[in-house]
Amino acid sequence: MRSENAAPILLKDYQPTPYLIEKVDLDFRLNPTHTTVRSKLTVRRREGAAATAAIELDGDDLKLDGVCVDDIPLAEEEYTATPDRLMIPAPAAERFELTIDTSLDPSKNTQLMGLYVSSGTFCTQCEAEGFRRITYFYDRPDVLAPYTTRMTANKKAYPVLLGNGNLVESGDVTGTDEHYAVWHDPHPKPSYLFALVAGNLAHISTDYTTSSGSPVKLNIYVEHGNETRADWAMDSLVRSMRWDEQVFGREYDLDVFNVVAISDFNMGAMENKGLNIFNDKYILADPDTASDADYAGIESVVAHEYFHNWTGNRITCRDWFQLCLKEGLTVFRDQEFSADERSRPVKRIADVQRLKAAQFPEDGGPLAHPVRPEQYKEINNFYTATIYEKGAELVRMIKTLLGERGFRKGMDLYFERHDGEAATIEDFIKSFEDATGTDLRHFMLWYSQAGTPTVTAEATYDAQAQTLTLTLSQETRPTPNQPQKKPLVIPIRFGLVAANGKDVGYSKVEGATVNADVLLLNEAQQTVVFHGISEKPVPSLLREFSAPVNLRSNLSLDDQLFLMGRDSDPFNRWQAAQTVATRLLISRSRGENLPQEASFIDALGEIAADTCLDTAFRALALQLPSEADLAREIGENVDPDAIGRAHEDLRAAIGQRLYGYLRDLYVELAPKDSRFDPGASAAGVRALRNRLLGYLAASGEAEGHGLVKAHFDSANNMTDRLSALVLLDHLNLPGKTEALAAFEARHKTDHLAMDKWFTVQATCPAPGTLARVKELTNHPAFSWTNPNRVRSVVGAFCAGNQRQFNAPDGSGYDYLAETTLQIDGKNPQLAARILNSFRSWRSLEAGRQEKAKAALKSILDSGQELSTDTKDIAERCL
Ligand code: ARG
Ligand code: ZN
Repeated sequence: MRSENAAPILLKDYQPTPYLIEKVDLDFRLNPTHTTVRSKLTVRRREGAAATAAIELDGDDLKLDGVCVDDIPLAEEEYTATPDRLMIPAPAAERFELTIDTSLDPSKNTQLMGLYVSSGTFCTQCEAEGFRRITYFYDRPDVLAPYTTRMTANKKAYPVLLGNGNLVESGDVTGTDEHYAVWHDPHPKPSYLFALVAGNLAHISTDYTTSSGSPVKLNIYVEHGNETRADWAMDSLVRSMRWDEQVFGREYDLDVFNVVAISDFNMGAMENKGLNIFNDKYILADPDTASDADYAGIESVVAHEYFHNWTGNRITCRDWFQLCLKEGLTVFRDQEFSADERSRPVKRIADVQRLKAAQFPEDGGPLAHPVRPEQYKEINNFYTATIYEKGAELVRMIKTLLGERGFRKGMDLYFERHDGEAATIEDFIKSFEDATGTDLRHFMLWYSQAGTPTVTAEATYDAQAQTLTLTLSQETRPTPNQPQKKPLVIPIRFGLVAANGKDVGYSKVEGATVNADVLLLNEAQQTVVFHGISEKPVPSLLREFSAPVNLRSNLSLDDQLFLMGRDSDPFNRWQAAQTVATRLLISRSRGENLPQEASFIDALGEIAADTCLDTAFRALALQLPSEADLAREIGENVDPDAIGRAHEDLRAAIGQRLYGYLRDLYVELAPKDSRFDPGASAAGVRALRNRLLGYLAASGEAEGHGLVKAHFDSANNMTDRLSALVLLDHLNLPGKTEALAAFEARHKTDHLAMDKWFTVQATCPAPGTLARVKELTNHPAFSWTNPNRVRSVVGAFCAGNQRQFNAPDGSGYDYLAETTLQIDGKNPQLAARILNSFRSWRSLEAGRQEKAKAALKSILDSGQELSTDTKDIAERCL
């Protein structure tokens, strides 16, 4: 485990390596407890580098068995080696072959970085710095080389041997029970994209032909018996490949594309060249075990990893500070893909919900960092919502600023210029500037300035002058290391909505640049005057969520209710509903009921029944902001119990006021036949129906409670079964115990389904949940070494249970501290990830703050040796 007290790595210190690696030849002899690796590197001194320059390679926990230069073993005084460094002070030649032998014990690799064994299958995870746990190397993204990988393993135990690129040779090793395979990847790549897999796996295959006619074999490997559960992932892959050809003009570039599903995996998935490795959660699906959210998640993660082939692999990052160059861009691409495959407004709402739930709190707390950070202590801690989700928002804003055509021109130029290179954000932005003649210097600030800006808008209408004046201002609060903030360029998509719901036109505008429906706010304060407006409109601002900001306006609740019912932009209809609900809920949490509540509830009823709207949209519009959303809106002195009670009460009020109406709708929407369709429109109906059921359950009506149990019993798919189970458990409804037992009996052998059963219980808002969480960790289906299991119990409790994690006695915080310490010795990445749940502790009321702070301190003071990952998060949180 890495636990050094290292100084931070700085962006401004970037230096290229003195040597280049022209070719990498790897030879693995795979054995679970003793694997040997021979790495032959063709090394050439970089032009201009000093002849005396040392070659210094990264390692992590390595055991060196020997090192040769041009096949001659080096004497001990000719190099220095530690588990994390190999240094040859002055290689004599300008070009030479360096051979390095290391040996590993993959069975003991509990960090799941480097080469490890998961359910008997050898697999690798090298991003960000896992390759150095396999062999000594320049383990950084700007050192690119073609790789050849030879693997030898027992044929019976590991019949499948996979590597990057194309298979060039395979066969039996005569006289042994072993076989071998040789894979060659002609595309130069950095070490983080290296992968191998060896195991006893089944697979499904499809033949794909690229738009220019090249045949590609697509394979998805899973455990035996899971073959049919990979069909949806394959379908998603084929659609992604076609979409990238059509929308970005990008084709696949090898003969084969392999995907492997693994059950022990720290993250979602990994885009290794030609050999993507996935957390099986993002591959396996069937109606009985996967929810609609899982189907959508598989579609987007499969697409994401595939899209990395161009944005990440063909063009990679110069250094890890540029991580958003591949991640933000690739998230943007996968979001666009899902928007095209499904409903664009529904996808946009879901993406914004996620941004606000995951990124806004990060940006507003002690872990805030710029989309392109300038320093880090542990790069694994920077695979964050800021890099990914906010990074995607920045790409989206570039598209908003340049328009569809300008954006495509810039992307084309980026691919043309930088294919085969390790690029920077400057390279990316320059491509857009040069392709369109736009100056994006001011826009660059979005990459270096952390924090979520708050935009304030005040509208006044002057009937006499027929003008609408918008006073806009922006402010970004200080974040760690950035006390002073500058104004950003903020594209605000807008419309001025007349009483009939249509946008009114205007004769001219002063005070801001306006292109079509996008207004540019680029100063701290701007007064924008629209002329020639004959009736008082309601401004609809930030349509489609055109910038990642918090918007505050002087619109009244009645104006918001109007937009909720009439805005032509579906996103802002949804946003207006959220804004109204937020104000009602915050008032309720302070003990007052606003008079507009009844109108709001009736407006919800209208949306519920409006068949002109997409069902999935109706389901989203009917969803109240989460308790975490409310805590974020309140921002300080937060009392999660008061929020939780307000939430419960408003749900009950909605259920009671609309009971008969929602029940009839619920009945009407019942599926006509029992065939399951995972597509977006059928999923939308399920989402709406389950939302209605939630209000029927919250109403307190006995009939409503009965409907929930009946819904559970008759469910023929996971989405319905799970929605009902959540209601039964969280509202403590009759039939809860039987339902939990029935779910467990039905799914006990399926880990992914059992994760849902764990999460339902860990997120129950009732007192006693912490004790239940502790019990769940003793369940036979639970395991402390599997990241999905830990996240489904501990992660779900800490991140998804506002009331019980934040219990006023601090028990939730103490549990997280203890658990972090327990996991840290085995899997630092996982420990650091769950520890993130402390990031908003400063916004709590004083009593809870004190308890949270003490728990965080107890981690640093425990006396246990901490990983760099956990130490970094704990220190930054404090
Ligand atoms: N590049 C992967 C993705 O597609 C994430 C891998 C990160 N892994 C890690 N151990 N930090 O998003
Ligand atoms: Zn990615």
